[in-house]
Amino acid sequence: MSWIPKTSGSLLGIALVVLVSGLTSSLAQRGSHSKNVSNSSAAGRNTYNASCAACHGLDGHGSDKAVNIAAGADAQHFSDAQLSGIIANGVPGTGMPAFRNLSATQVRAVVQYLRSLQGRSEARTLPGDPKRGKALFFGKGECSTCHTISGEGGFLGPDLSRYAATAEPTAIRDQILKTQRSPAFSYHPAVLTTAEGERLEGLIRNEDNFSLQFQTKDGSFHLFQKSDLRNLERRDTSLMPTDYRDRLSSSELDDLVSFLVSVNPDANKAGPSHKKKEEDDYE
Ligand code: HEC
Ligand code: HEC
Repeated sequence: MSWIPKTSGSLLGIALVVLVSGLTSSLAQRGSHSKNVSNSSAAGRNTYNASCAACHGLDGHGSDKAVNIAAGADAQHFSDAQLSGIIANGVPGTGMPAFRNLSATQVRAVVQYLRSLQGRSEARTLPGDPKRGKALFFGKGECSTCHTISGEGGFLGPDLSRYAATAEPTAIRDQILKTQRSPAFSYHPAVLTTAEGERLEGLIRNEDNFSLQFQTKDGSFHLFQKSDLRNLERRDTSLMPTDYRDRLSSSELDDLVSFLVSVNPDANKAGPSHKKKEEDDYE
């Protein structure tokens, strides 16, 4: 430690003690909050517990006085701005009071905390516009010719209703832009010729050593014994287009990702389940 001048050694020691004790006391202050919770979400939780929990429950799952705002489809679907509006203005004519005494910052913190009760660690604010993304999904992007979202769309690709609930936005973007794809299990394109000489194009949805479940492009399922087939030609390229990099602009991709993330996977159900559907686990 030759760089420390001898005379100031004790001074430095004191400075260190002061610094360290300062740190520990500020750590001790934080100690009252649970480990991974930042200050602002702790403030959100405090406000929530004091102002909302009496009716909506500590976990947001509701009570005899108020609806479930953690797993309720409506509450999950509201944007942050809509939630803030409901908190600030109440819902006139119902038991939901207006919280005019809360500052804008407090309202924001409650919304953030509500998002964590809903199972999202933070509000997912994405650069794109989900409305434009929806139009692209069902329009220019032609995604809906193959993918279904909330019961609408095609079946040649996996149902994407719950895809984004578990995927990171950048990963979703990468999936759309992938230029090399090998067909996923259950989405393997093939052309076959039946014993009667009929030629069918479609997807191998399932198979074992002897039989084959085949779905043709009109959606109908066919079961074949492999030994009965005159010919079976598997295609090694996925049906999912690989040219979206050229077909969609960067901001259009943002819109699409925003739309996929905005889809409420439980829109048709009441439960809080965020599990990926078993049948979509084709990888
Ligand atoms: C006195 C009881 C009460 C308190 C306190 C209360 N709420 Fe509500 N809240 C209700 C009722 C009742 C409804 C249902 C209104 C309706 O019928 O549309 C509701 C509705 C809501 C909704 C809309 C839910 C939906 O699915 O449409 C949200 C969001 C909400 N409350 C959030 C909060 C937050 C956040 C707080 C605390 C800042 C809070 N509430 C405090 C009674 C309460
Ligand atoms: C011609 C049919 C087709 C079109 C059009 C299509 N896809 Fe796909 N997509 C597929 C298939 C089939 C898969 C399954 C994986 C594979 O085979 O590559 C897939 C996979 C995906 C995946 C990964 C899903 C997962 O569970 O891993 C995403 C995300 C996706 N597509 C999004 C889109 C979007 C967004 C569009 C529109 C811009 C689109 N797809 C257009 C057929 C299509």
